[in-house]
Amino acid sequence: MERTLIILKPDAIQRKLIGKIISRLEDKGFKIVGLKMIKINEDLAKKHYEAHVNKPFFPSLLNFITSTPVIVMVLEGVDVVNQVRKLVGATDCKKAEVGTIRFDFGLSIQNNLIHASETIQDANREISIFFNQNELFDYKLLLDEIIY
Ligand code: CMP
Repeated sequence: MERTLIILKPDAIQRKLIGKIISRLEDKGFKIVGLKMIKINEDLAKKHYEAHVNKPFFPSLLNFITSTPVIVMVLEGVDVVNQVRKLVGATDCKKAEVGTIRFDFGLSIQNNLIHASETIQDANREISIFFNQNELFDYKLLLDEIIY
């Protein structure tokens, strides 16, 4: 079993798409093992987006990601990191494949609704930035036997 970090970004919050996006992830069969609403501050944004801090778009990304609270979530499942990246689609919503979350809901490269960890290593790092151990839950989903 793998885990991945999801952020529903300020555009998803403003557009009231929280429920629809979470449904897409649940419908695939993944289990939510952690979920909360938080306000990302500058320090947290720099930690999470450490690979992008020196990019030209970072000031705008920082302004965006700190503009409203966000939903952070940890999903668990088989191959969840790659599977969720496929469900989410390309960074630029205009280039995302038809049927992905970013294609279906977005038109922007920055305001692309959702973040999902790129690799297992990234997932472990990002989960530890946003969640304490006591905020993550091990439990059995009765449907797992049917899903898998
Ligand atoms: P995410 O998958 O969270 O990872 C980095 C984020 O930076 C990305 O989604 C976008 O929100 C943003 N981003 C990436 N490239 C650009 C860009 N060229 N211009 C503006 N924002 C970008």
